[in-house]
Amino acid sequence: MTLIATLESPRLILRQWQDDDLVEFAALCADPQVMRYFPAPLTRLEAAALVGRLRGHFNEYGFGLWALERKDNGAFIGMTGLLNVSFEAPFTPAVEIGWRLARRHWGLGLASEAAWACLRCAFSQLHLDQVVAFTTQNNLASQKVMQAIGMQPDTEGAFDHPRLPPDHPLRPHVLYRIDREQWLQTVRG
Ligand SMILES: CC(C)(COP(=O)(O)OP(=O)(O)OC[C@H]1O[C@@H](n2cnc3c(N)ncnc32)[C@H](O)[C@@H]1OP(=O)(O)O)[C@@H](O)C(=O)NCCC(=O)NCCS
Repeated sequence: MTLIATLESPRLILRQWQDDDLVEFAALCADPQVMRYFPAPLTRLEAAALVGRLRGHFNEYGFGLWALERKDNGAFIGMTGLLNVSFEAPFTPAVEIGWRLARRHWGLGLASEAAWACLRCAFSQLHLDQVVAFTTQNNLASQKVMQAIGMQPDTEGAFDHPRLPPDHPLRPHVLYRIDREQWLQTVRG
């Protein structure tokens, strides 16, 4: 297993988590707007535990959700990366791409930019055949990022998230996919 410690995009460094990131990360995970499409905002303890799990994923697989740092001012702004899907579904085993940014950095194209760097890593460094993404039906911002990086909706693949209770409003999820060939076509324009 080779650790992919960092990736780079025009405006961002995607890097390993530093202890200093926790204050800012806990703040963004406590923001109800950021966490609107998750069951609940996270406490500081839950955010710290999540960073621990994210570090564990890197240790085990060499890739994960990288911490995002802006090149222009060095600010930590959130995370984007690749994760082994941790539950069973018709589309698993699979590697998913995901993102979560602090609100003041939304709308600048940074999530899509970071996601492009992660897809390049998925196909040209990790040699994956396919990457999936999913989110709750109403999370249109996240679906826009999926579309922006060339992912295609798999309408047959829509599913109820198994970690949420049966009647939970966030349970219905959409599924997007991109395979190596589609990525190459998108990159070639
Ligand atoms: C999803 C998220 C990362 C998008 O960040 P962002 O900085 O707005 O993303 P980008 O600037 O790269 O924008 C991508 C596209 O989304 C669009 N968009 C942003 N917010 C939107 C919204 N609320 N509704 C619809 N579209 C939206 C942008 O206009 C852009 O579209 P374009 O490419 O056609 O211009 C950010 O909203 C976030 O962190 N949300 C909370 C965490 C989350 O829900 N994560 C996903 C869980 S699966």
